[in-house]
Amino acid sequence: MRQQIAAANWKMNLTYEQGQELLDTILNENIELSKHQRAVFAVPFPYLVMAKHKTTAKQRYFAAAQNCSDKKSGAYTGEVSAEMLRSIDLKYCVIGHSERREYFGEQDHMLARKVEICLENGITPIFCCGEPLSIREVGAQNAFVETQLREALYHLSETQFRQIVIAYEPIWAIGTGKTATSAQAQEMHMHIRTMLAGKYGKATADEIPILYGGSVKAGNARELFQCPDVDGGLVGGASLQAAEFMTIIRSLK
Ligand code: PGA
Repeated sequence: MRQQIAAANWKMNLTYEQGQELLDTILNENIELSKHQRAVFAVPFPYLVMAKHKTTAKQRYFAAAQNCSDKKSGAYTGEVSAEMLRSIDLKYCVIGHSERREYFGEQDHMLARKVEICLENGITPIFCCGEPLSIREVGAQNAFVETQLREALYHLSETQFRQIVIAYEPIWAIGTGKTATSAQAQEMHMHIRTMLAGKYGKATADEIPILYGGSVKAGNARELFQCPDVDGGLVGGASLQAAEFMTIIRSLK
């Protein structure tokens, strides 16, 4: 079975102490993950070593960065490189979250470099795509997401591409409490998979986990994750509460 992933995205929330407490509560619950399941915690940079340390003790639990630089190294004050993430043995990094695109001007050509630099360092990018409301309202979401994928990912070889995780996050559903219906999520996920099959072949497309993001919570996770092409979620708000996120982990197929 394709990998199923519950990924927490803490964004710029929680103090160090609160973060430790949240992780401890979740990890101490000892939710057992099957061979194909993963729980991933994308935490702020200063908490990565702590999160890495705590998750390493558990099988199939991982820490992740929320971003990395598109540059290798050098005089880029304030940036964090993929090589630095590799040096603490990190396995995942979120790339191209819509908040990075919107507030920090990240565009697909830059994201293409970030994806590549992660792969060079053995880090799986969790690549985010998704349309704003204005695009959904005119029914142009499929073409919009297709462009994002083409521009940021299609330069990869098939072998590289097999390392990618995709997160479809309709921007109108992020932090708004307005979730895409499971039918809307399944429709887009299937569309993405069909697109990927066109580029990389069906066998590869069938292997790529495609997560849904946008107001996933304990109450809707199971229904969303049951969709055949939805392979888990990238979860913001609800990942800040232990009980909510534990239910979300338990909702994985
Ligand atoms: P949300 O955020 O779950 O709070 O909607 C999801 C995300 O932005 O990754």
